[in-house]
Amino acid sequence: MKKILITGGAGFIGSHVVRLFVNKYPEVEIFNLDKLTYAGNLENLSDIDSKPNYHFVKGDIVDAPFINALFEREQFDGVIHLAAESHVDRSIANPMEFIFTNVVGTVNLLNAAKSIWQGHYEGHRFYHISTDEVYGALGDTGAFKETTPYSPHSPYSASKASSDHFVRAYHDTYGLPTVISNCSNNYGPNQFPEKLIPLFINNIKHNKSLPVYGKGINVRDWLYVEDHARAIDLIFHQGKTGETYNIGGNNEWRNIDLIKKLIEIMDRKLGRPEGTSLQLITYVTDRAGHDLRYAIDATKLRTELGWEPTIKFAEGFEQTVDWYLSHEEWLNNVTSGSYQEYYHKMYGE
Ligand code: NAD
Ligand code: TYD
Repeated sequence: MKKILITGGAGFIGSHVVRLFVNKYPEVEIFNLDKLTYAGNLENLSDIDSKPNYHFVKGDIVDAPFINALFEREQFDGVIHLAAESHVDRSIANPMEFIFTNVVGTVNLLNAAKSIWQGHYEGHRFYHISTDEVYGALGDTGAFKETTPYSPHSPYSASKASSDHFVRAYHDTYGLPTVISNCSNNYGPNQFPEKLIPLFINNIKHNKSLPVYGKGINVRDWLYVEDHARAIDLIFHQGKTGETYNIGGNNEWRNIDLIKKLIEIMDRKLGRPEGTSLQLITYVTDRAGHDLRYAIDATKLRTELGWEPTIKFAEGFEQTVDWYLSHEEWLNNVTSGSYQEYYHKMYGE
């Protein structure tokens, strides 16, 4: 492939995927299409944005004429689609944005790919990045397999489930060469500080309360973001057309245990006596429709494509804390919106 479109490349996971592809495939033109919502930040890519094979396009995947014109002009060989509204709490407050971007935006991209490839599918691929949240909630045991029936509970997961169904439908109906992966919770640098880990790092630093939803007994399976990016590279190049792959860290934590671990690391790094920040824990009303437990069975990815997570949690978690503590300016910028100024400075609009 000569030209690959990555959508949502200015966001958390997308920025790690763009960096990996730009550096690993210097002969391939990588186009990053992003609307730069509150979650998109070009500073995430400042180390690679002058590379000759990197191109940024500002745009909205909901805007079908714009998407069609872009595909016509650039004739992408492959698409890796990450752009999405991604925060469950925002989806509860405002579901419509999730339907526009996650469902309509995905179908716009499918239509554009179908139109430029026109049945000549050899050498093309449409890769849709999804989440384990589409499978719903588990009890105390078991893990999601690729064959687990969909049972989304939040507007976010319902919109992602819907987009997954459209991707499969375009494969089954039109033969579009699609592949899907469903990943567990990611952690690492560049995550917008509304999600649990960066939010709590920031709050502990500023001695602000830590709002734990419900009893803190919900379980998530955490994967380091660069391991997800490596899985995406592998599936994009070697995954079978029409298939789904689950990606997970085999690393389950109850929220409250993860938070206590985070407090232990933060107190040590901030030079506070051990346990000081435990007093910041505040139990608040549970999230509506809060899924109890997610866990991924990644056997298919491991046995068929040989993928394994490479970063041990203890190491990745500590590195993540270090990254946020040493990137105070990044945190201030994304929360104050001054990254918009960076965009104007860099791209002159
Ligand atoms: P994010 O919110 O950090 O980034 C999303 C990016 O998409 C932002 O750069 C934003 O500007 C862009 N975007 C949003 N709406 C757009 C639109 N209409 N047009 C163009 N660009 C738009 O999200 P993330 O956490 O990096 O997640 C990326 C993808 O991975 C999503 O599809 C998400 O569902 C999936 N995913 C995330 C996780 C996780 O733990 N974060 C886990 C599994 C799957
Ligand atoms: P989050 O990072 O929003 O990811 P997701 O909802 O996609 O799993 O939340 C991770 C877990 O942490 C989830 O069980 C909800 C919980 N949580 C809190 O207890 N307090 C918070 O302030 C946030 C943002 C999340």
